[in-house]
Amino acid sequence: MKLSREELKSLMKNKLMQAGLHEDHADTTAEILTWSDERGYHSHGSVRVEYYSERIFKGGITVDPKFTWTQTGPCSGIFDGDNGIGYVIAKEGMEKAIQLAKENGIGVVGMTNMSHSGSIGYYTEMAANEGLAAISFCQSDPMAVPYGGAEPYYGTNPISFAAPTADDRKVVFDMATTVQAWGKILDKKSRHESIPADWAVGVDGAPVTDPNLVNALVPISGAKGYGLMMMVDVFSGVLLGVPFGGHVSSMYHDLSEGRRLGQMHIVMDPNRFVGAEKFKKDMSQCLDEIGNIKPAPGFDKVNYPGERAEERKKKAYATGGIEIVDEIVEYMRSSDIHYNRYDHKNRFAE
Ligand code: NAI
Repeated sequence: MKLSREELKSLMKNKLMQAGLHEDHADTTAEILTWSDERGYHSHGSVRVEYYSERIFKGGITVDPKFTWTQTGPCSGIFDGDNGIGYVIAKEGMEKAIQLAKENGIGVVGMTNMSHSGSIGYYTEMAANEGLAAISFCQSDPMAVPYGGAEPYYGTNPISFAAPTADDRKVVFDMATTVQAWGKILDKKSRHESIPADWAVGVDGAPVTDPNLVNALVPISGAKGYGLMMMVDVFSGVLLGVPFGGHVSSMYHDLSEGRRLGQMHIVMDPNRFVGAEKFKKDMSQCLDEIGNIKPAPGFDKVNYPGERAEERKKKAYATGGIEIVDEIVEYMRSSDIHYNRYDHKNRFAE
């Protein structure tokens, strides 16, 4: 069913508060989840509220975290989140990185001991809104094989870049480093449909098309995507001293334990390079030129990263609101707690 932005955000906020999150943290989390749903990134929107509520209720997300900021150099620092809700930690970490970049030209902030922070494009877009360029990397739980391997080691380890333009457009490139999210495989399974052979592998590491036989996801573009996936973990895990690779905690293993995840934001002030005005002007020109490229057969237009998400958002509001699965809305409107759905499930929450 379709919901207005206000109703969607307030349903999520109320549910998170019912589970024990304080209002300010629930508000920030609901705002970022709404950002995802309104852009059509439903895998990282309201569908997650039930899981977060269970983890909050069971103590695996600290509701009164003691955040610690340690500035380690003129441009760098570590933000320890005390296993609080990841959305607030990633947002406050980005605010620090923006401040450092404005003061010193570059800001590099590592966040440690956090929980899941959702669509990481939200955070890089914060920097682009300030006229800055940004990159963010974060860890997720092991469910993808390294190229050539038959066993999972890395997560879907996303990476996001963002840059401003001279107009109201922003480039927000935001992707998992696996071909598909696990949610897409679950969806195919529920519809009794096969999956393309380049999405996942079975227990022997060979490609499978039957979603019931999936043991792990695969990196995008073979060895190149595997290299990216690994370097995301190097920057957001190994470099920060949190558990890395196959040691990263599972999303669903023990909901009473903090996840100890890492994330890294890097923000650059164009004034320390080409100059802010020229950077933004040239970015606008670049997007205009890309948009004017003749489309290939089967395409209407060449899009820049983030453009289709913005179009989905505009379309949602022009057609009566954000489409949310009925079952999720019913859960959020009900007084039900459902605090026993995810705990100790395997890494795919089956
Ligand atoms: P996706 O495959 O929908 O899009 C990836 C990127 O490609 C986007 O920047 C999009 O703008 C761009 N794109 C897609 N089609 C395009 C086209 N036709 N022309 C130009 N650009 C195009 O995204 P994906 O990989 O499914 O990730 C979805 C979300 O999941 C992201 O927000 C990501 O941050 C989040 N995520 C978060 C994780 C976490 O642990 N926190 C783990 C994995 C993903």
